[in-house]
Amino acid sequence: MPDAVLTARSLESLLGDWRGAAPGYQSLADRVRLLVLDGRIPIGTRLPAERDLAGRLDLSRTTVSAAYRQLREGGFLDSVRGSGSVARLPGPALALPATGGEGMLDFTKAALPAATSLPAAARAAAEELPHFLPDSGYDPVGLPHLRQAIADRYAERGLPTTADQVLVTVGAQQAIALIARTFLSRGDRALVEMPTYPHATEALKLAGARLLPITVTPPTDAPHALAADGSEPAGEDGWDADAAEQAIRRANPALAYLIPDFHNPTGASMSPATRERILAAAAAHGTVVVGDETTADLDIDRVGEYLPLPRYAHRRAGDPPVLLIGSASKSLWGGLRIGWIRAERPLIQRLTAAKPSTDLGTPMIEQLVVARMLPQLREILEERRVQLGAGRETVRRLAGEVFPEWRLPRLHGGLAAWVGIGAPVSSALALAARNHGLLIAAGPRFGLDGAFERFLRVPITYSEEETQRAFAALERAWAVASAEPAPYFDAAALPSVV
Ligand SMILES: Cc1ncc(COP(=O)(O)O)c(C=O)c1O
Repeated sequence: MPDAVLTARSLESLLGDWRGAAPGYQSLADRVRLLVLDGRIPIGTRLPAERDLAGRLDLSRTTVSAAYRQLREGGFLDSVRGSGSVARLPGPALALPATGGEGMLDFTKAALPAATSLPAAARAAAEELPHFLPDSGYDPVGLPHLRQAIADRYAERGLPTTADQVLVTVGAQQAIALIARTFLSRGDRALVEMPTYPHATEALKLAGARLLPITVTPPTDAPHALAADGSEPAGEDGWDADAAEQAIRRANPALAYLIPDFHNPTGASMSPATRERILAAAAAHGTVVVGDETTADLDIDRVGEYLPLPRYAHRRAGDPPVLLIGSASKSLWGGLRIGWIRAERPLIQRLTAAKPSTDLGTPMIEQLVVARMLPQLREILEERRVQLGAGRETVRRLAGEVFPEWRLPRLHGGLAAWVGIGAPVSSALALAARNHGLLIAAGPRFGLDGAFERFLRVPITYSEEETQRAFAALERAWAVASAEPAPYFDAAALPSVV
């Protein structure tokens, strides 16, 4: 039995603007293949019947049959008697290497290598471990001294926090999923930015939410000046605060999931004025606000460490909750898998009670490592600032040289540039790039219904040499993508994007 069913209408919106210069069946098969490869069509999903899709796309049945046949021959579809055509991946998917294959450059991950102080912290943590061994090792809430170190960071930012207002999770991803299933019921509205971090929308949808998008459009014009507090000037931060307020007023979302600093994938940073307005609207309409600050530490230009947290610190009794998510993944290392939630005590208790059905505790050694590294965060972030600043310059330079018509956003921090590529070919480009050794997430991976074909997320986290190779691959792929859809390929599957 297939896990999910895609109607002709849903597939049409996922396909976006798929028609190219190649024969129709070829273009259709190429686009479906990309959707399967980048996870927008989950494995096991039943595709619409040929007749339904042909009717919806105004194509002949022969064209759709030929596309499905090509997908079947390439191992991307299984025809199961009684179940129709079901999406799959060629070859033994589970045996595929996580990095997407030897020699492949994996730009689907916008993430830095480990901070240089990690090995020393790991050695020290290993020495500390015997102290914890007599205990069971099952730690559902997090080690007290780690929770205290995390609480101290919030206090430094002007948000008094005690250790029992912190719940340690397995990365920020677990925090998002846990919050989603704790605070959402089937059919609830969840406000999300568009574009946004795709695994958050997946978690919200899995919890039954109907998504309510608000647009984030990072400004691209340079030069410009930051406001005195280091933020974008009001109204130029990329968020449409009017639209956000209206959406909250009209739809009464149960929850708003926001990435205020530095937004993934655009790198935008929400101004204090926008924060204030969204929080006020949420408070008035009973919307739980979730601020995902996984990438908030990664500033390149700002003088202050963080923007202020208006109203977080002085909320009134009866206001709906604000939950903050943090993570060690982007500042320290993704391999640590340590994240956390900061919220009022009763909510932490509620989340803790909901946790064991999917997880019985956070790994101990990793917690010890993070607890050792947090006090050194200032120096570590300095190291990150240099790495990200260099990455940003390399991307700017290469984009200017190779694609002078591409538009880069203002970028003061974060892990990637949300680049306007001038033509609706992001999926075709990502698909063609695989044939040149580059895995990269197409713009629509960060949207809903096939939007953002004119954008590409280019990480600024890689070395100059790797970024050069990536641009060389993009240059070759561009010639293919802008002329006609990419030819058949059989590359490794890599559905996750960070
Ligand atoms: C905005 C955002 N939230 C959450 C995550 C997941 O973070 P973690 O690796 O801590 O699970 C990511 C990873 O890219 C992210 O960009």
